[in-house]
Amino acid sequence: MSDAEFLFVVCQRGAESALKRELACTWPQFRLAFSRPGFVTFKLPVDHGLSPDFALRSVFARSYGFSMGRCTGSYAELMADQLWQQAGRRAGQQAWDHLHVWQRDTAVPGDRDFEPGISTLARQIGRIVAERRPPSVAPQRVFPVNLVARPGQHILDCVLVEPGQWWIGSHQASDMPSRWPGGTPKIDMPDDAVSRAYLKMTEALLWSRLPVAAGDRCVELGSSPGGSCQALLDRGLIVTGIDPADMSPVVLQHPNFTHIKARGADLKRREFSRVKWLVADANVAPNHTLDTVEHIVTHRQVDIQGILMTLKLIDWHLADRIPEYLQRVRRWGYPLVRARQLAFNRQEFTVVALRRRPRPSRRFATKRRLTST
Ligand SMILES: C[S@@+](CC[C@H](N)C(=O)[O-])C[C@H]1O[C@@H](n2cnc3c(N)ncnc32)[C@H](O)[C@@H]1O
Repeated sequence: MSDAEFLFVVCQRGAESALKRELACTWPQFRLAFSRPGFVTFKLPVDHGLSPDFALRSVFARSYGFSMGRCTGSYAELMADQLWQQAGRRAGQQAWDHLHVWQRDTAVPGDRDFEPGISTLARQIGRIVAERRPPSVAPQRVFPVNLVARPGQHILDCVLVEPGQWWIGSHQASDMPSRWPGGTPKIDMPDDAVSRAYLKMTEALLWSRLPVAAGDRCVELGSSPGGSCQALLDRGLIVTGIDPADMSPVVLQHPNFTHIKARGADLKRREFSRVKWLVADANVAPNHTLDTVEHIVTHRQVDIQGILMTLKLIDWHLADRIPEYLQRVRRWGYPLVRARQLAFNRQEFTVVALRRRPRPSRRFATKRRLTST
């Protein structure tokens, strides 16, 4: 039997090429092994020395871990038994704290009503796998399935890649996405949400841990129709939306919301003098968004503390320029910059940038959180 070790990486359907090119730069020793839309594995070098909670530092990896290979078959119960044989062998002395079971994306988020998360099938299979666990490797009376793990917990991953083909893996929870099943937070979209940007903004706040507080002033460039403003208003922020297009009446009637019907570049920069957070979600090329944001945040009367920016990959090849985009943001005086293609992003990714480190709190203590990507 080969002793080779493999890494599995789950990404947005269609983002595989960008992911492979990204990892070829950061981890040239990894060798591509298996690839399906939204799911890729890599063979690791023999002496990789990676810890179970290592940081992949990838924009496009939604979730990743060490692969233990696949289980195949026609009956979930028999496949669950195979899974535990493989997982038991690998666990050695260590017991599993958690089981995360999810399905490879069936569509691009937002297409054909698809949104990432735990599907009914994944929920059913999770139940079957948990019921058939051997007590020696998962001794808990109630075995946690698809819950948010705590940092340090050992997670058994099961990705439903094809019907009758599950890929098994493991990782140790560390930063926020590594604690969510499949790297996707569970977000309930309110009935009155006016766009799926509500999901995107909620995930962006959870992932970035931007220290926003009720009463803070925030501006969004590219705010129409207003889902993302709603998520910010729900947190008690005072929000100004800047967009030449109309806002939804649901958002307009909120007492803490103001609409300025204009393009970002048309505004006087002193309009931003009391603003703490800048959000940008304009459907234009990355350099256009960066030009507009740069013009605002580098003005001497403006003191924006943090930026949350969606950059649209109008062509997937723009992904190769991400390091250059992030370097540009750092040069504005924001040394803490990270980027991630969020589960609820489409062909785009999100950047968070902070002027200074937030005051330490236990919430911010996880190992990988403030490393730059
Ligand atoms: C993806 S939509 C924004 C969705 C919005 N964030 C939400 O929560 O519903 C992109 C928006 O960017 C706006 N836009 C494009 N260029 C802009 C600019 N230079 N300044 C402000 N808004 C712009 C468009 O009018 C469009 O409404």
